[in-house]
Amino acid sequence: MISNITILGIESSCDDTSAAVIRDGVMLSNTIASQAVHARYGGVVPELASRAHQQNIIPVVHDALKQANIDKSELTAIAFTRGPGLLGSLLVGTSFAKGLSQALSIPLVDVNHLQGHVLAHFISQGNEEEKFPVFPFLCLLVSGGNSQIVLVRDYLDMEVIGQTIDDAAGEAFDKCAKVMGLPYPGGPYIDKLAKEGNPKAFTLNKPQISGYDYSFSGLKTSFLYLLRDEEKKNPNFVAENRADLCASLQATIIEILMNKLRKAAKDLNIKQVAVAGGVSANSGLRDAFHEHAKKYGWEVFIPPFSFTTDNAAMIAITGYYKFLKGEFCGIEEVPYTRVSNLIV
Ligand code: KG4
Repeated sequence: MISNITILGIESSCDDTSAAVIRDGVMLSNTIASQAVHARYGGVVPELASRAHQQNIIPVVHDALKQANIDKSELTAIAFTRGPGLLGSLLVGTSFAKGLSQALSIPLVDVNHLQGHVLAHFISQGNEEEKFPVFPFLCLLVSGGNSQIVLVRDYLDMEVIGQTIDDAAGEAFDKCAKVMGLPYPGGPYIDKLAKEGNPKAFTLNKPQISGYDYSFSGLKTSFLYLLRDEEKKNPNFVAENRADLCASLQATIIEILMNKLRKAAKDLNIKQVAVAGGVSANSGLRDAFHEHAKKYGWEVFIPPFSFTTDNAAMIAITGYYKFLKGEFCGIEEVPYTRVSNLIV
């Protein structure tokens, strides 16, 4: 086994500029600059995001090298998020990675952001008690832009077996939070308020779709109509019922997610089940995973909070496995904003 493979990972797909160093699969640093500038607009503003990435990228990479206690001359390769994401944001990370790889004469490895979320489960923090999923396993990938069930056969052999046909789970959280007047992104606020509410207080629409696909737009509409109808009768409806609304919404989203995941695990006879992406920070979803572990004998893998949202450590670990297979990227390659069904 070749050792001392030191990968610098760069992530800039949305509104977090992040850089990380991973050596032989062990994380040496993971630095992130988040962009507060979007909060007042109720969503990410692409133009502002790319400008903030330009400001952040050099200090963030500098910090990642410093925290890892290495010099840039020790880097073996540079891995960067090539997509999916916002084009302007991706361009900043991609151009920086290309420039640095040319300057250092080291290989460039392009990484699919979604694959990075899944492989975040293999980031070692050098702790002897760490446990990693065993192939094949299922990964529920839930973020602001995606809701997928991924069958993971190997590090670089993955298949999306189910995905949302409309909104993502995170989008359902954020859009429903917005109509309740909560700040953006609303997912964490709903999570917090749900803890004080009754999950059975309101009944919301659940989709009837075959297979392992998801749909959240019907739920969002039924939530919107509930608020509209009730507010006609009582203008203070939302303020008076916020915790119950959050608890009912969260419970419904989790039920939709877990029903399909359970079906896939049963059909494929897989008991190693992981969760990834920003929504995996949700405490109700984490509890549901632990309950399923007890009830169905699953071995569950839930990432540390720092690896649930966008981070460069997951890009660096994916770059590491691609490097080992000699999967490099040419200087002429450009970012992509979307990917089709297969994520590799
Ligand atoms: O993976 P991610 O950081 O990036 C995007 O896909 O943009 O996911 C962000 C999503 C947002 O929709 C946010 O509301 C949601 O993850 N999220 C949560 C929680 N923390 C973040 N949703 C529910 N509960 C949470 N605790």
